[in-house]
Amino acid sequence: MGFSRKSNVIETLISALFLLGILSSCVAQCRDDRHAETIQFPALNCRKHSAVLTDFGGVGDGKTSNTAAFKAAIANLSQLAKDGGAQLIVPPGKWLTGSFNLTSHFTLFVHKDAVILGIQDESEWPLLPVLPSYGRGRDAPGGRFSSLIFGTNLTDVVITGNNGTLDGQGAYWWKKFKEEKLNETRPYMIEIMYSKQIQISNLTLVNSPSWNVHPIYSSDIIIQHLTILAPIDSPNTDGINPDSCTNTRIEDSFVVSGDDCIAIKSGWDQYGIRVNMPTKKVVIRRFTCISPDSATIALGSEMSGGIQDVRAENITAINTQSGIRIKTAVGRGAYVKDIYVRGMTMSTMKYVFWMTGSYSSHPDPGFDPKALPVIKGINYKDMVATNVTYSARLDGIKNDPFTDICISNVNIKLTEDPKELQWNCTDIQGVTNRVTPTPCASLPQKEIDCPFPEDSLPIEDVKLKTCSLY
Ligand SMILES: *[C@@H]1O[C@H](CO)[C@@H](O)[C@H](O)[C@H]1NC(C)=O
Ligand SMILES: *[C@@H]1O[C@H](CO)[C@@H](O)[C@H](O)[C@H]1NC(C)=O
Ligand SMILES: *[C@@H]1O[C@H](CO)[C@@H](O)[C@H](O)[C@H]1NC(C)=O
Ligand SMILES: *[C@@H]1O[C@H](CO)[C@@H](O)[C@H](O)[C@H]1NC(C)=O
Ligand SMILES: *[C@@H]1O[C@H](CO)[C@@H](O)[C@H](O)[C@H]1NC(C)=O
Ligand SMILES: *[C@@H]1O[C@H](CO)[C@@H](O)[C@H](O)[C@H]1NC(C)=O
Ligand SMILES: *[C@@H]1O[C@H](CO)[C@@H](O)[C@H](O)[C@H]1NC(C)=O
Ligand SMILES: *[C@@H]1O[C@H](CO)[C@@H](O)[C@H](O)[C@H]1NC(C)=O
Ligand SMILES: *[C@@H]1O[C@H](CO)[C@@H](O)[C@H](O)[C@H]1NC(C)=O
Repeated sequence: MGFSRKSNVIETLISALFLLGILSSCVAQCRDDRHAETIQFPALNCRKHSAVLTDFGGVGDGKTSNTAAFKAAIANLSQLAKDGGAQLIVPPGKWLTGSFNLTSHFTLFVHKDAVILGIQDESEWPLLPVLPSYGRGRDAPGGRFSSLIFGTNLTDVVITGNNGTLDGQGAYWWKKFKEEKLNETRPYMIEIMYSKQIQISNLTLVNSPSWNVHPIYSSDIIIQHLTILAPIDSPNTDGINPDSCTNTRIEDSFVVSGDDCIAIKSGWDQYGIRVNMPTKKVVIRRFTCISPDSATIALGSEMSGGIQDVRAENITAINTQSGIRIKTAVGRGAYVKDIYVRGMTMSTMKYVFWMTGSYSSHPDPGFDPKALPVIKGINYKDMVATNVTYSARLDGIKNDPFTDICISNVNIKLTEDPKELQWNCTDIQGVTNRVTPTPCASLPQKEIDCPFPEDSLPIEDVKLKTCSLY
């Protein structure tokens, strides 16, 4: 009797759990059936209109080219820019495509089970002229393949998802690059030019042909919750490269790559000097990098429009060649100044601090040998590093020293087999406080806590709205 009552209770429990299971799968399913109306996401602006790629003939089989479907969809939705804007949803599936262009007041939403695959057919990648601040392509003197996702002269563009994927299928391009068979510069994953109000978030970017995210000549940019992955030996797969941009916020992102995780740039030698567009007002926070042959955050080497007011906080580097690296050369001109970094944790590093005044790549021999860069006001504090080979290699330029360097509260623990000369300094000036191992004589000890601005940059105060699909 007792036994059977117990078993009844168990049976009731089991059927209740079973029913709950059915109900919860129904809830998920039914919501999907009503177009997943519960998917909510943060965005600069919500849109009045929505469409799905399949409305425009998209086929998500991983084999059919969707270049025409993306073009048709965006051409169609661009008509709604003045009527509350539109969002294009890339639903679950594998969407092979060449380069396509975005429009204004527009959101591209990539579903978590969607993969946008870069097609390995060059005819689907239009050629663009070289960037005016570079004077030539970086891979070859000729033109540049348009990026997988490209936009120019836009306002208010959101590229997001709930962790959908962009896969550049870069192996094709890396091989051509290594074999020196490229006559034009490889495409990037995302490039946005001459634009304002840009958001790129909640996506996974894998195997870009070259750089991953390249906003250039643009302003008011928010980049957050990105996962960027490329083989650590893939060529020039930089993570995020703000280039001649004002007001950029990069946060809560993770990059594993074959080149710099973040590289802040502003044009190359005489071309960058002529265009004269700095990158300024950059905030980087809660960012993690793995890049055994490159920097966590590079400033340059192309910095000929100037780099000013970069604030980086709570940065993690693991198995990375260097922490912050300044790269410049005679001929670059301009400046890198007012750089502030605090709260950095590093492990397995070749260099913690690295500054290079002889980064010798030039677009052509026409650079001006009298164009000396000004590097000053570089502030690093509150850092720990372990398993380090060299604490610092700081090479300024002869007759053009890097000045006003301040480093405080930094504890560096060395590898079992560290270099004997831990601080190798030439043509630099500044101060240090509470730094181990003991810095070089050109960075004498002074009672100082290096500065970090108290105010916030305008881009830090931009709030995102909560939008939903459908
Ligand atoms: C494209 O936009 C027009 C309105 O301009 C609309 O009538 C048409 O249905 C749209 N095409 C598709 C495939 O949705
Ligand atoms: C995108 O826009 C650029 C510049 O207007 C143009 O040259 C290029 O052909 C466009 N790309 C596509 C895929 O339509
Ligand atoms: C885009 O903006 C740039 C800079 O303002 C301008 O030179 C160029 O003509 C514009 N291009 C288009 C297609 O409007
Ligand atoms: C974006 O990513 C963050 C961090 O992982 C997560 O908290 C948030 O829910 C994501 N948003 C969407 C729409 O998936
Ligand atoms: C997004 O997907 C990538 C690749 O699968 C994964 O590594 C990452 O953890 C995911 N991010 C979130 C927030 O789920
Ligand atoms: C590159 O240019 C060279 C010389 O102009 C030409 O022989 C070769 O076919 C070109 N390669 C490609 C892939 O277009
Ligand atoms: C950085 O980390 C510290 C310590 O965990 C925390 O107090 C601070 O709010 C963080 N700052 C940012 C911008 O995340
Ligand atoms: C320390 O760094 C060396 C390279 O210098 C690496 O081989 C080793 O695995 C690292 N050790 C730890 C504990 O991470
Ligand atoms: C120190 O730096 C100078 C200048 O870059 C370089 O020539 C020299 O080899 C370095 N010395 C050591 C011991 O690494």
